[in-house]
Amino acid sequence: MKLPSSSATDLHKANLEHMVSMKDFSVREMDNMMELMSYLKQARKDNAIPQLFKGKSVGMIFEAGSTRTRVSFEVAATLLGGHALFLSPKDIHLGGKESIDDTSRVLSRMCDVIMARTNSPETLDGLLNMSTVPVINGLDTRFHPTQMLADLFTIREHITDGRQLNELTLAFMGDATDVCRSLMLTCAKYGMGFKQIGPVKYHMEPEWVELAQSYCAESGGHIEITDDVERISECDVVYGDSFYWVTQMDEKAERLAAFMPDYVISEELMAKAKPGAMLLHCLPANDKEEVTRGALESEYSVAFDEAENRLTAQMAILVYFTHKDAVTPSEDTIRRHEDKIQTFLSTL
Ligand code: CP
Repeated sequence: MKLPSSSATDLHKANLEHMVSMKDFSVREMDNMMELMSYLKQARKDNAIPQLFKGKSVGMIFEAGSTRTRVSFEVAATLLGGHALFLSPKDIHLGGKESIDDTSRVLSRMCDVIMARTNSPETLDGLLNMSTVPVINGLDTRFHPTQMLADLFTIREHITDGRQLNELTLAFMGDATDVCRSLMLTCAKYGMGFKQIGPVKYHMEPEWVELAQSYCAESGGHIEITDDVERISECDVVYGDSFYWVTQMDEKAERLAAFMPDYVISEELMAKAKPGAMLLHCLPANDKEEVTRGALESEYSVAFDEAENRLTAQMAILVYFTHKDAVTPSEDTIRRHEDKIQTFLSTL
Protein backbone atom coordinates (compact mmCIF):
# COMPACT_ATOMS: atom_id res chain seq x y z
CA MET A 1 0.00 0.00 0.00
CA LYS A 2 1.35 3.42 -0.91
CA LEU A 3 0.60 5.94 1.80
CA PRO A 4 -0.03 9.53 0.78
CA SER A 5 2.99 11.72 1.38
CA SER A 6 2.81 14.36 4.07
CA SER A 7 5.93 16.06 2.76
CA ALA A 8 6.07 19.81 3.09
CA THR A 9 8.46 19.89 0.18
CA ASP A 10 6.43 18.15 -2.53
CA LEU A 11 6.55 21.28 -4.60
CA HIS A 12 10.25 20.64 -5.26
CA LYS A 13 9.36 17.63 -7.41
CA ALA A 14 7.98 19.69 -10.28
CA ASN A 15 10.54 20.06 -13.08
CA LEU A 16 13.33 18.95 -10.80
CA GLU A 17 16.80 19.69 -12.18
CA HIS A 18 20.21 18.69 -10.87
CA MET A 19 23.77 19.84 -11.55
CA VAL A 20 25.82 16.73 -12.19
CA SER A 21 27.94 17.55 -15.22
CA MET A 22 28.30 20.37 -17.70
CA LYS A 23 27.10 17.92 -20.33
CA ASP A 24 23.60 18.42 -18.87
CA PHE A 25 23.62 22.15 -19.62
CA SER A 26 23.13 24.13 -22.78
CA VAL A 27 25.29 27.17 -23.53
CA ARG A 28 22.22 29.31 -22.94
CA GLU A 29 21.71 27.87 -19.45
CA MET A 30 25.39 28.36 -18.62
CA ASP A 31 25.20 31.92 -19.93
CA ASN A 32 22.12 32.53 -17.77
CA MET A 33 23.95 31.27 -14.70
CA MET A 34 26.93 33.47 -15.51
CA GLU A 35 24.71 36.52 -15.96
CA LEU A 36 23.24 35.75 -12.54
CA MET A 37 26.81 35.49 -11.21
CA SER A 38 27.61 38.95 -12.49
CA TYR A 39 24.55 40.49 -10.76
CA LEU A 40 25.35 38.71 -7.50
CA LYS A 41 29.04 39.67 -7.65
CA GLN A 42 28.08 43.32 -8.12
CA ALA A 43 25.59 43.05 -5.24
CA ARG A 44 28.34 41.58 -3.04
CA LYS A 45 30.66 44.48 -3.94
CA ASP A 46 27.89 46.85 -2.83
CA ASN A 47 27.27 44.79 0.32
CA ALA A 48 23.66 44.53 -0.82
CA ILE A 49 23.00 40.86 -1.56
CA PRO A 50 19.28 40.13 -1.93
CA GLN A 51 18.08 37.46 0.50
CA LEU A 52 17.13 34.98 -2.22
CA PHE A 53 17.91 31.86 -0.15
CA LYS A 54 16.21 33.12 3.00
CA GLY A 55 14.85 30.35 5.20
CA LYS A 56 16.44 27.71 2.97
CA SER A 57 19.15 25.17 3.66
CA VAL A 58 21.77 23.34 1.65
CA GLY A 59 22.89 19.98 3.06
CA MET A 60 26.56 19.53 2.11
CA ILE A 61 27.92 15.98 2.10
CA PHE A 62 31.72 15.82 1.97
CA GLU A 63 33.26 12.35 1.61
CA ALA A 64 36.55 14.09 0.74
CA GLY A 65 38.26 17.23 2.02
CA SER A 66 37.64 20.66 0.53
CA THR A 67 38.56 24.27 1.17
CA ARG A 68 37.01 26.23 -1.70
CA THR A 69 33.88 24.18 -2.36
CA ARG A 70 32.97 23.90 1.29
CA VAL A 71 33.67 27.49 2.27
CA SER A 72 32.10 28.99 -0.87
CA PHE A 73 28.81 27.09 -0.50
CA GLU A 74 28.65 27.82 3.22
CA VAL A 75 29.34 31.53 2.78
CA ALA A 76 27.03 31.76 -0.26
CA ALA A 77 24.11 30.29 1.71
CA THR A 78 24.75 32.71 4.58
CA LEU A 79 25.10 35.78 2.33
CA LEU A 80 21.80 34.91 0.65
CA GLY A 81 20.00 34.62 3.99
CA GLY A 82 20.03 30.82 4.25
CA HIS A 83 21.98 28.11 5.99
CA ALA A 84 24.48 25.39 5.05
CA LEU A 85 24.99 22.13 6.92
CA PHE A 86 28.39 20.40 6.76
CA LEU A 87 27.80 16.63 6.75
CA SER A 88 30.81 14.31 6.70
CA PRO A 89 30.45 10.50 6.74
CA LYS A 90 31.77 10.69 10.33
CA ASP A 91 28.72 12.72 11.32
CA ILE A 92 25.87 11.05 9.43
CA HIS A 93 24.94 7.44 8.59
CA LEU A 94 25.80 7.77 4.90
CA GLY A 95 26.09 4.31 3.35
CA GLY A 96 26.87 2.78 6.74
CA LYS A 97 23.92 2.41 9.06
CA GLU A 98 21.66 3.92 6.44
CA SER A 99 21.54 3.46 2.66
CA ILE A 100 22.42 6.33 0.34
CA ASP A 101 18.82 6.17 -0.97
CA ASP A 102 17.32 6.69 2.47
CA THR A 103 19.83 9.43 3.31
CA SER A 104 18.80 11.21 0.14
CA ARG A 105 15.09 10.88 0.93
CA VAL A 106 15.52 12.24 4.43
CA LEU A 107 17.75 15.16 3.40
CA SER A 108 15.22 16.02 0.67
CA ARG A 109 12.52 16.37 3.30
CA MET A 110 14.56 18.87 5.31
CA CYS A 111 16.89 20.69 2.94
CA ASP A 112 16.17 22.68 -0.22
CA VAL A 113 19.38 21.65 -1.99
CA ILE A 114 21.81 18.74 -1.54
CA MET A 115 25.43 19.38 -2.46
CA ALA A 116 27.77 16.40 -2.45
CA ARG A 117 31.48 15.77 -2.91
CA THR A 118 31.73 12.02 -3.29
CA ASN A 119 34.52 9.49 -3.73
CA SER A 120 32.51 7.36 -6.14
CA PRO A 121 29.89 7.97 -8.84
CA GLU A 122 27.64 5.41 -7.08
CA THR A 123 27.21 7.68 -4.06
CA LEU A 124 26.19 10.61 -6.24
CA ASP A 125 23.91 8.41 -8.34
CA GLY A 126 22.25 7.11 -5.16
CA LEU A 127 21.59 10.64 -3.98
CA LEU A 128 20.18 11.55 -7.41
CA ASN A 129 17.91 8.48 -7.49
CA MET A 130 15.89 9.43 -4.48
CA SER A 131 16.28 13.16 -4.04
CA THR A 132 13.25 15.38 -4.46
CA VAL A 133 15.39 18.52 -4.30
CA PRO A 134 18.21 19.63 -6.61
CA VAL A 135 21.46 17.71 -6.16
CA ILE A 136 24.66 19.61 -6.94
CA ASN A 137 27.81 17.67 -7.72
CA GLY A 138 30.59 19.30 -5.73
CA LEU A 139 33.13 16.98 -7.42
CA ASP A 140 32.98 13.26 -7.98
CA THR A 141 35.54 11.18 -9.82
CA ARG A 142 34.05 12.22 -13.19
CA PHE A 143 33.04 15.89 -13.12
CA HIS A 144 33.45 19.19 -11.29
CA PRO A 145 30.64 21.34 -12.74
CA THR A 146 30.59 24.08 -10.09
CA GLN A 147 34.27 24.71 -10.84
CA MET A 148 33.41 25.20 -14.53
CA LEU A 149 31.13 28.14 -13.86
CA ALA A 150 33.82 29.90 -11.85
CA ASP A 151 36.41 29.14 -14.54
CA LEU A 152 34.42 30.40 -17.53
CA PHE A 153 33.32 33.48 -15.61
CA THR A 154 36.93 34.25 -14.62
CA ILE A 155 38.15 33.86 -18.20
CA ARG A 156 35.43 36.22 -19.42
CA GLU A 157 36.26 38.77 -16.70
CA HIS A 158 39.91 38.83 -17.75
CA ILE A 159 39.47 39.02 -21.51
CA THR A 160 39.60 42.76 -21.96
CA ASP A 161 40.15 43.00 -25.73
CA GLY A 162 36.59 42.05 -26.72
CA ARG A 163 37.33 38.48 -27.81
CA GLN A 164 34.55 35.94 -27.21
CA LEU A 165 35.11 32.54 -25.61
CA ASN A 166 34.90 30.81 -29.01
CA GLU A 167 37.98 32.75 -30.10
CA LEU A 168 40.11 31.21 -27.34
CA THR A 169 42.03 27.97 -26.91
CA LEU A 170 42.61 26.48 -23.47
CA ALA A 171 45.46 24.11 -22.61
CA PHE A 172 44.91 21.76 -19.71
CA MET A 173 48.32 20.60 -18.41
CA GLY A 174 47.94 17.26 -16.71
CA ASP A 175 46.03 14.02 -16.65
CA ALA A 176 42.42 13.18 -17.41
CA THR A 177 40.98 14.50 -14.15
CA ASP A 178 37.39 15.44 -13.40
CA VAL A 179 38.38 19.06 -14.06
CA CYS A 180 40.07 18.17 -17.36
CA ARG A 181 36.98 16.21 -18.52
CA SER A 182 34.62 19.00 -17.44
CA LEU A 183 36.74 21.67 -19.15
CA MET A 184 36.92 19.66 -22.37
CA LEU A 185 33.13 19.31 -22.54
CA THR A 186 32.56 22.94 -21.57
CA CYS A 187 35.06 24.30 -24.12
CA ALA A 188 33.53 22.06 -26.80
CA LYS A 189 30.05 23.39 -26.08
CA TYR A 190 31.28 26.98 -26.31
CA GLY A 191 33.14 26.42 -29.56
CA MET A 192 36.50 26.98 -27.88
CA GLY A 193 39.72 25.16 -28.62
CA PHE A 194 40.77 22.64 -25.97
CA LYS A 195 44.06 20.79 -25.62
CA GLN A 196 44.95 18.25 -22.99
CA ILE A 197 48.75 18.28 -22.81
CA GLY A 198 50.35 15.44 -20.87
CA PRO A 199 51.95 11.98 -21.12
CA VAL A 200 50.08 9.52 -23.36
CA LYS A 201 49.35 7.16 -20.45
CA TYR A 202 47.26 9.87 -18.80
CA HIS A 203 45.27 11.00 -21.82
CA MET A 204 41.48 11.41 -21.73
CA GLU A 205 39.37 8.31 -22.37
CA PRO A 206 38.31 8.11 -26.07
CA GLU A 207 34.56 7.99 -25.31
CA TRP A 208 34.72 11.41 -23.67
CA VAL A 209 36.81 12.83 -26.50
CA GLU A 210 34.21 11.54 -28.96
CA LEU A 211 31.40 13.20 -27.00
CA ALA A 212 33.33 16.48 -26.94
CA GLN A 213 33.99 16.20 -30.68
CA SER A 214 30.26 15.74 -31.29
CA TYR A 215 29.70 19.06 -29.48
CA CYS A 216 32.47 20.64 -31.57
CA ALA A 217 30.72 19.53 -34.78
CA GLU A 218 27.91 21.92 -33.80
CA SER A 219 29.87 24.66 -32.05
CA GLY A 220 32.98 24.93 -34.24
CA GLY A 221 35.26 24.06 -31.34
CA HIS A 222 38.29 21.82 -31.66
CA ILE A 223 39.90 19.24 -29.39
CA GLU A 224 43.47 18.00 -29.31
CA ILE A 225 44.89 15.42 -26.92
CA THR A 226 48.67 15.47 -27.12
CA ASP A 227 51.93 14.83 -25.31
CA ASP A 228 53.65 17.65 -27.22
CA VAL A 229 54.19 20.48 -24.77
CA GLU A 230 55.10 22.85 -27.63
CA ARG A 231 51.39 22.88 -28.58
CA ILE A 232 50.97 25.41 -25.77
CA SER A 233 52.09 28.01 -28.33
CA GLU A 234 48.50 28.05 -29.69
CA CYS A 235 46.86 28.64 -26.32
CA ASP A 236 45.32 31.74 -24.72
CA VAL A 237 44.54 30.09 -21.39
CA VAL A 238 46.78 27.63 -19.53
CA TYR A 239 45.13 25.55 -16.81
CA GLY A 240 46.82 23.65 -13.99
CA ASP A 241 45.65 20.87 -11.70
CA SER A 242 47.34 18.44 -9.34
CA PHE A 243 49.11 15.49 -11.00
CA TYR A 244 47.39 13.09 -8.56
CA TRP A 245 44.27 13.10 -6.36
CA VAL A 246 43.97 11.97 -2.74
CA THR A 247 42.71 8.56 -3.89
CA GLN A 248 45.85 8.12 -6.06
CA MET A 249 48.54 8.51 -3.40
CA ASP A 250 49.89 5.04 -4.17
CA GLU A 251 50.61 6.27 -7.74
CA LYS A 252 52.18 9.56 -6.65
CA ALA A 253 55.84 8.71 -7.38
CA GLU A 254 55.01 7.17 -10.77
CA ARG A 255 52.86 10.13 -11.76
CA LEU A 256 55.39 12.75 -10.70
CA ALA A 257 58.08 10.93 -12.70
CA ALA A 258 55.82 10.95 -15.77
CA PHE A 259 54.80 14.62 -15.56
CA MET A 260 57.89 16.33 -14.16
CA PRO A 261 59.63 18.38 -15.37
CA ASP A 262 58.13 18.56 -18.90
CA TYR A 263 54.51 19.39 -17.97
CA VAL A 264 55.13 21.69 -15.00
CA ILE A 265 53.64 25.17 -15.50
CA SER A 266 56.61 27.47 -15.01
CA GLU A 267 57.30 31.04 -16.13
CA GLU A 268 59.40 29.57 -18.96
CA LEU A 269 56.47 27.42 -20.12
CA MET A 270 54.02 30.34 -19.87
CA ALA A 271 56.38 32.35 -22.09
CA LYS A 272 55.76 29.78 -24.84
CA ALA A 273 51.96 30.32 -24.76
CA LYS A 274 50.29 33.02 -26.84
CA PRO A 275 51.15 36.62 -25.87
CA GLY A 276 48.83 37.72 -23.04
CA ALA A 277 47.91 34.14 -22.10
CA MET A 278 46.38 33.80 -18.65
CA LEU A 279 46.99 31.09 -16.05
CA LEU A 280 44.14 29.39 -14.20
CA HIS A 281 44.44 26.68 -11.56
CA CYS A 282 41.51 25.06 -9.76
CA LEU A 283 43.63 24.92 -6.56
CA PRO A 284 44.84 23.55 -4.25
CA ALA A 285 48.21 24.03 -5.98
CA ASN A 286 51.47 22.34 -5.14
CA ASP A 287 54.18 24.81 -6.14
CA LYS A 288 56.84 22.08 -5.97
CA GLU A 289 55.00 19.92 -8.48
CA GLU A 290 52.52 20.97 -11.23
CA VAL A 291 53.07 24.75 -11.08
CA THR A 292 55.87 27.00 -9.86
CA ARG A 293 55.29 29.74 -7.30
CA GLY A 294 56.73 32.20 -9.81
CA ALA A 295 54.06 31.37 -12.39
CA LEU A 296 51.28 31.36 -9.79
CA GLU A 297 52.30 34.83 -8.56
CA SER A 298 52.84 36.36 -12.02
CA GLU A 299 50.62 39.13 -13.40
CA TYR A 300 49.04 36.67 -15.85
CA SER A 301 47.85 34.34 -13.04
CA VAL A 302 44.15 34.70 -12.20
CA ALA A 303 44.02 31.60 -9.98
CA PHE A 304 42.96 33.48 -6.87
CA ASP A 305 40.31 35.52 -8.70
CA GLU A 306 39.12 32.14 -9.96
CA ALA A 307 38.99 30.84 -6.37
CA GLU A 308 36.96 33.87 -5.26
CA ASN A 309 34.59 33.27 -8.16
CA ARG A 310 33.75 29.89 -6.64
CA LEU A 311 31.73 31.96 -4.16
CA THR A 312 30.17 33.97 -6.99
CA ALA A 313 29.23 30.71 -8.73
CA GLN A 314 27.78 29.06 -5.62
CA MET A 315 25.56 32.07 -4.91
CA ALA A 316 24.21 31.83 -8.46
CA ILE A 317 23.75 28.05 -8.23
CA LEU A 318 21.76 28.23 -4.99
CA VAL A 319 19.51 30.93 -6.44
CA TYR A 320 19.20 29.35 -9.90
CA PHE A 321 18.12 25.96 -8.59
CA THR A 322 15.64 27.19 -5.99
CA HIS A 323 14.08 30.35 -7.41
CA LYS A 324 11.24 28.48 -9.13
CA ASP A 325 10.07 27.13 -5.77
CA ALA A 326 10.39 30.45 -4.03
CA VAL A 327 7.12 31.29 -2.33
CA THR A 328 7.33 34.53 -0.42
CA PRO A 329 4.68 34.31 2.27
CA SER A 330 2.44 37.32 2.78
CA GLU A 331 2.42 39.06 6.14
CA ASP A 332 -1.14 37.76 6.54
CA THR A 333 -0.05 34.15 6.10
CA ILE A 334 2.75 34.51 8.63
CA ARG A 335 0.34 36.21 11.08
CA ARG A 336 -2.28 33.47 10.60
CA HIS A 337 0.26 30.75 11.47
CA GLU A 338 1.62 32.72 14.39
CA ASP A 339 -1.89 33.35 15.80
CA LYS A 340 -2.71 29.65 15.60
CA ILE A 341 0.52 28.65 17.37
CA GLN A 342 0.22 31.40 20.01
CA THR A 343 -3.39 30.35 20.71
CA PHE A 344 -2.23 26.78 21.21
CA LEU A 345 0.71 27.81 23.40
CA SER A 346 -1.59 29.89 25.60
CA THR A 347 -3.53 26.70 26.44
CA LEU A 348 -0.47 24.90 27.81
N1 CP B 1 39.06 23.48 -6.57
C1 CP B 1 38.43 22.85 -5.54
O1 CP B 1 37.41 22.15 -5.71
O2 CP B 1 38.96 23.15 -4.32
P1 CP B 1 38.60 22.37 -2.98
O3 CP B 1 39.03 20.93 -3.15
O4 CP B 1 39.35 23.09 -1.90
O5 CP B 1 37.11 22.45 -2.77
